[in-house]
Amino acid sequence: MIPVAWKRRVLLRMRRWTRALRFAGRSITVHPSTWIAHRARLSDRGGGAISIGKNCEIHPYAMMLTYGGVIRVGDDCSLNPFAIIYGYGGVHIGCGVRIAAHTVIVSANHVVSRAGEPFHQSGVTGRGVRVEDNVWIGASAVILDGVTIGRNSIVAAGSVVTRPVPAHSTVAGVPARVIATRGVEGS
Ligand SMILES: CC(C)(COP(=O)(O)OP(=O)(O)OC[C@H]1O[C@@H](n2cnc3c(N)ncnc32)[C@H](O)[C@@H]1OP(=O)(O)O)[C@@H](O)C(=O)NCCC(=O)NCCS
Repeated sequence: MIPVAWKRRVLLRMRRWTRALRFAGRSITVHPSTWIAHRARLSDRGGGAISIGKNCEIHPYAMMLTYGGVIRVGDDCSLNPFAIIYGYGGVHIGCGVRIAAHTVIVSANHVVSRAGEPFHQSGVTGRGVRVEDNVWIGASAVILDGVTIGRNSIVAAGSVVTRPVPAHSTVAGVPARVIATRGVEGS
């Protein structure tokens, strides 16, 4: 019988090689313990970089698109089907972050200038998005540029987050407002 530890070592080594081939020549680094579905798309087109930590799950049809920015994902995170992270202004995802299906994190805005100036010529701004540790983002949420979501928070399904979310909060709605604050041990 083949020992479990040995099987795990072989699996990790195979994943490392598969990754090396899949992302060869690109600025994409993924820990070998992380699962990336074949139908997920990680792209550094336009510059930038992607790094993903340990034990994450990137599900089919999820996308991480740098558009010149850096997308960093910590350990133990999941990106469910059809969730999209646009990296232009930089996106930092902490550890233990669950991102449900159809969520969009968009760290950029077209510059709104003179009336009538085409948006494709007016430029783009990007301040970045930061999601701290242990955050649960519900299905179809939209997280806009400049937002930080504090640790241990919940973003309800369908919310549009336009402002910073304090740690330990639940936010919901369009635009998202705090609907609950969870107690913190020791406070
Ligand atoms: C936020 C959530 C976790 C529920 O939190 P909760 O603390 O149990 O909230 P409650 O159900 O008691 O609702 C509290 C209030 O928030 C409102 N609310 C709850 N979810 C909401 C949402 N998604 N959008 C807007 N308002 C919402 C409720 O209507 C209620 O309002 P009221 O007090 O005026 O009646 C849940 O509603 C949710 O959005 N879950 C995400 C599910 C999901 O996407 N799963 C993906 C699989 S990972």
